Parts: sequence; structure tokens; C-alpha cells
Amino acid sequence: MAETPAYQGKATMEKITALAKRRGFVFQSSEIYGGQSGAWDYGPLGAALKNRIAANWWREMTQLEDDIVGLDAAILMHPRTWEASGHVENFTDPLVDCKKCKARFRADQMPEESLVEKKCPECGGELTDTRRFNLMFKTYIGAVEDEANTVYLRPETAQGIYVNYKNIIQSNRMKIPFGIAQIGKAFRNEIVTRNFIFRTCEFEQMEMQFFVKPGTDEEWFKRWKERRWAYYERLGVAPARLRWHRHGPGELAHYAKDAYDIEYLFPMGWRELEGVHNRSDYDLSRHGEYSGKDLRYIDQENANERYTPYIIETSAGLTRTLLMLLCEAYDEEKITDKDGSDDWRTVLRFHPVVAPITVAVLPLMKKDGLPEIAREVRRELRADFSTDYDHAGAIGRRYRRQDEAGTPFCVTVDYETKENRTVTLRFRDSMEQTRVGIADLPGRIGAEIRAYPPPAPSPTVP
Ligand code: GAP
Repeated sequence: MAETPAYQGKATMEKITALAKRRGFVFQSSEIYGGQSGAWDYGPLGAALKNRIAANWWREMTQLEDDIVGLDAAILMHPRTWEASGHVENFTDPLVDCKKCKARFRADQMPEESLVEKKCPECGGELTDTRRFNLMFKTYIGAVEDEANTVYLRPETAQGIYVNYKNIIQSNRMKIPFGIAQIGKAFRNEIVTRNFIFRTCEFEQMEMQFFVKPGTDEEWFKRWKERRWAYYERLGVAPARLRWHRHGPGELAHYAKDAYDIEYLFPMGWRELEGVHNRSDYDLSRHGEYSGKDLRYIDQENANERYTPYIIETSAGLTRTLLMLLCEAYDEEKITDKDGSDDWRTVLRFHPVVAPITVAVLPLMKKDGLPEIAREVRRELRADFSTDYDHAGAIGRRYRRQDEAGTPFCVTVDYETKENRTVTLRFRDSMEQTRVGIADLPGRIGAEIRAYPPPAPSPTVP
């Protein structure tokens, strides 16, 4: 593996957290009650960003693929699902508590000497023995709180796909190899939640399970690894901040034959962004065994040969991707104002396909009929693009506000607009401006989005 570069970007978790709150990307959950740890709320810009990341992933996985279909399965599933999947038995973290200050730690993430000496790294108090702690949230369905009514909040979306695999083959006449994609909430009772929205108890996943014939799994695994890497490059993520991490024997999940993580260089260091797993025939074999149903595939084109498919999984965190894109897009740039003085701007250089606002329409002045024309321009654009309108304050300040929200294009309506129906189109990254006819705007902006290059590596990229 190449030598690990240190993080040299301009984002810090403090800056990202503060910007996210200030601009309405992400708020602490239940803040007025002191906050709920492990949970976050997505404000107007955050909800738009999350929806656009999800829409882009969904488009890539379903619309642009011949053999992948979508699913939206329930969060609550039959409890046998989680016995079959191995989560009841194996989905645990090693946990230790401090008897004195009651702090709780993951044993695999604390200093070796604290464990050996059984000494709390925070207060020096005595630590308990390490015990296994299951990460699934358990609750009850119906009026009676007993074992027979236990249900779990799903800790991964994947199992909803496996239990529906036969339904989908039958209803959609799918033939192996094929995939099923799903986006949805997942829940884990994480012992340690820190680094903003990186590791939370409630989060969203974008998972795709690809069903293949045994013996072809390694080839498909390789192909999906390449495709998932290319996806992040298409979003403009600098390859210098991406790397592969292969799971060693001690790290492999109970279901995995082979597993790689795509890691991203966050401000706090390299961390997992997405897992690509060869899950072998573990899941379908276990569901077959626990449900008593025959989940083998019948290959009608091959003398009705029966086999249990292998599964190649691509599993990305939606909320974690959002954090990665905030870090990746964050930039601070020295600029020169019109009067020649130095100024700074904070800019989020989102790829236009995920930017929460694509075009902001700004009247130069709040008078002389300019706001009315600007609103009319916005009406023309809103069917095709996500838009914003802002007439408050000096135009330079409004550009800065849009830069900070990551808006790639601003359209300014000025006095010339009244004469010849042209506007100024301003580009976020270069701050260049050009004159465009109102009638040509949708076509021009569409063309700019299609031609958008991955941003040139910033000077801060290691
Ligand atoms: N179905 C396989 C699976 O769930 P995972 O590696 O446990 O595999 C996949 O999770 C992805 O889900 C991770 O790469 C990460 O992006 C996201 N993820 C997992 N736990 C998370 C958490 N507590 N908070 C936010 N995202 C999480």
C-alpha cells in the first residue's frame, strides 16, 4: 500500500460541523432538550443534498444498468431473519465500562495498556472485564412486551433484499446475474458515536446485492470494486484521498469470503466509506435453512440446474457519503474584491449533480422591476433545476452565501436584462461571469452540468 499521506485539506470537523449548522445542512437531534446522541436532523440544504446523493446513486444503479432493479423493504422484519443472518449471535462489539466514572469504551479502540492494566483512560478508575455487546436495537411489536413479540430495527438494509430475492425473480423474471438495489434507514446501538455524522445510531445506507453463479463470484467482485471506485471519481472525489483496505482474517465479517473497504481521507484520518463484499452463498443458504424454503436458483436455460447464488455486495453509507462530500467540497480561498482589497470566501465545490441548489437567481437591486423579472426567470428554471431566489443585501455578499451553500451557478438580473433579455451567469468555482439570453439559460446550464469536470486537484491535495 502507498505511504499514507497526512490530511492537508482545509476542512476540519469543527469547521464542517459549524458550517453545517449555520447553513442548515445538519442539526443536532432534539437540540432544545440538550440533544440526542447518535442522531442528527437534516435541514433544508442537508435534506436536499442527501436526496440528491441518493437520487444520483439510484440513477447509476437502476436507470443506467440493465440488470439491477430497486426495492424498498420494511425496517421491521421477522425476528428469525436476524437469527438466520447471524446478527443475533455475531453482531457484537467488545465493551468495557469504568466502575468509577461509568464511561463506556470499545475494547478494540482503546489504548492497549489501559486494557492490560484495567485502568480507565479518562479517570484512572478500575475497568470491568471485556464483554460482547449486541448492536441491534431491540423492541416489541404489539401490546405485550415479551420475547415472542421481539423485533429488531434492521442494522443493515441487505437482509430485506435477501428475503425478497425469490419474489423479485418471480415477479420481474430476473435471470442470474442480476442485482437488487435499496436505499434506507439502518440502526446500530453504537457505543462510541463521535466525529459528527460519521458514526451514528440512526443512519442511511445505499446497498446493492448482485446475485451470481458460484465460480463467477471472484470476477464479479473485481468488476464491482472497479465500478464503485469509478463512481467516486465521477463525483469529483480526488483519487489521492481514496484508497482500498482489504479485510484481514481477523476483520472479515461472519458472512464474508472476501471484503474491501473504500476508505476516504477525512480530516480525522483514513476511514471506511463503503464496503464491497463477497458474501458467498452464506445469506441465501442460511435463509433457506431457517425458513424451510428452497431458495436455490433454477437455471432454466441450463437444463434446470439448481444452485444457491453467491452475492457480491456494495454497501455505502448515504449519511457518511454526505459527510465525505462536505469535507471534499470544502475550500477557503483568498480573493480580491473590486476595490482591490483582499477578502476570503468559503466555498463548497460540490459536483453540480449533487449540489443542494443548482441555480440561484438574484436581482441586482430590490427595485425597478428587477425582482419580478428574477422571479420569472426562476419559474422558467425550476422545472429542470433546483433553484433559489435571494434579494437580500449586496450582490457580493449574496454570491458568498451561495458559494457557502455550494451553488454552482448564479444568475443575476440587472438593468441590461430589461433592455435585451440577457442575464449574467456566474460560475462558483472560477467566479467568472458571462452574458446569456434568458431563453438559452436552461440549455446552457444543462450543458455546463454535463461537461462539469472533476475539480482540478486543489493545491492542498497531498
Ligand atoms: N450490509 C453490509 C454492511 O452493512 P458495514 O460495513 O457494516 O456493512 C456499510 O456498513 C456502510 O454503512 C459503511 O461503509 C458505512 O458507510 C455505513 N455505516 C455503517 N455503520 C454506520 C454508522 N454507525 N453510522 C453511519 N454510517 C454507517
